[in-house]
Order: sequence, then structure tokens, then C-alpha cells
Amino acid sequence: MAFFIKKTDKTESEIISKLPTHIAIIMDGNGRWAKKRGLPRTAGHKVGAEAFRSIANYAKSIGLKYLTVYAFSTENWKRSEEEVDAIMGLLERFLREAIRDMDKNQVRFCFFGDLTRLSPALQAEAAEAVERSKQYEGVQVNLCLNYGGRAEILRAARIFAARCATGEAKPADLNEAAFSELLWSAGVPDPDLVIRPSGEERISNFLLWQSAYSEYYFTDTLWPDFGPRDLDLAIEAYNKRSRRFGGVK
Ligand code: FPP
Repeated sequence: MAFFIKKTDKTESEIISKLPTHIAIIMDGNGRWAKKRGLPRTAGHKVGAEAFRSIANYAKSIGLKYLTVYAFSTENWKRSEEEVDAIMGLLERFLREAIRDMDKNQVRFCFFGDLTRLSPALQAEAAEAVERSKQYEGVQVNLCLNYGGRAEILRAARIFAARCATGEAKPADLNEAAFSELLWSAGVPDPDLVIRPSGEERISNFLLWQSAYSEYYFTDTLWPDFGPRDLDLAIEAYNKRSRRFGGVK
């Protein structure tokens, strides 16, 4: 279990906080951030991509094991072609730079979602990022792309049903652990903390199976303004929660 020591601003006293193993973030509020400044929505996504880069670096520096971010949902295709293209362009650029700087940053990449709908260039970059970063042992960043919690659960159910149809598996073989292994997140522990900035308080089809016992943290800060200090506040709030997983402490 990872621990880190933090100084609080108010008391200057040292407290020992427990660092969650896995933090997941719904990067929301890019459009409103841009609108407030009279800028196109795409400008919000551009600054949002930078916010992500800085949070990923910070996560690594504090010793977080897993960071999962919702970058593009199965529902986001409903947006204008211009906006979708802009987000895809940012993702391509981000991955090209991540591959270029891989030895320096040492971040392991993984993708959750159906990548087959993405451009061949983006798919190739994603595959290269996964392959080349397999060796790193620090933080693992899971990028959710064309991801939806329901799509993920349906896909797992279909995989298992197909195994039953061929006789490879029996319905009674299925349990929670076996089902988890059929999800895109196979092998990744469930998120301890799910953060949603921007004042919205809903789950939006994000990690539906995995977040069954996650702690939620909502903040009014818009994603492009979300920085390391905001992550600290979320972890501080997490540390005040009593996690009982349906039991009694
Ligand atoms: C939600 O804000 C954000 C998205 C749907 C896109 C997230 C994309 C990025 C942060 C940029 C690319 C990411 C990476 C990892 C390089 P919204 O547009 O729904 O905001 P709004 O609710 O204020 O309109």
C-alpha cells in the first residue's frame, strides 16, 4: 500500500495520507471553460489535454499506481464533426509526443474502449504506446477512448456467451472475478476514487462495473483549471471517507 506525507496549508502540521491505488477522472468542463472566455470549444479541449498531461506527471510523482481518464465516450460521436476531429487531433498529438518522450516519462499506457472506430493512425499510435511502455513499472495511465461502461459490459457478456456456445465455458463458471477479466480493464484493480470536475454529479457511463464501491468526489473546478492542488484536495477528501464495502467497521 502506498503512503505519502503531506503538509496542510492551514495547520502546517504533517499528516500521513493514504494514497488511493487507482484514481479515475471524468475530464469534464472543457466546453464551458472555453465559452466563459469567448473561445471555441476546441480551445477548451486543447487546454484540457495540457491539464491531463500535468495531472499524469503529478500522479507519477506522488507514486499513484493507476490513473484512468475518460477522454472520449461512445456518446461523444454525437458532437459536431469539427469538435470530434479536434479531440482526435489532440489525442494523436498527445500520443505522438508520449511515444517520443517515453524513456524520459516512463509512463505505462493502456486503452479501454473499442479502438476499431478510431482512425488507423490513432490505432497504430495507441498500439505502439502500449507495446513500448509495457516495460515501465511506475504509474499506468488508462485512456478511455470510444469507451462506454454499458458497451464494455455487453462486450464481456458476448465473449462469455460465445464461449458457452462453443462448450469452452459453462454459465456456472462465471463469477465476479471471471467477469472482470473480460472487461477492457482486465488486470487493473477497481478505482478507489472517481473524480468529476465541472459541477456535474453523474456517472455518464463511466466504469459502471468497476466503480461499484468507489468513492466519488465532485468539484466545481472546470477540467482545464484542474491541477495538482485539486488532485490533493480530492485525495484529502478521500482520506476522510470510511470505506465499508457494505460491511461494518
Ligand atoms: C468533456 O468536456 C470533455 C471531453 C468530451 C473530451 C475530453 C478531451 C480532452 C481533455 C482532450 C484530449 C485528451 C487527451 C488525453 C489528450 P465537455 O466538452 O463535455 O465540457 P462541457 O460539459 O463544458 O461542454
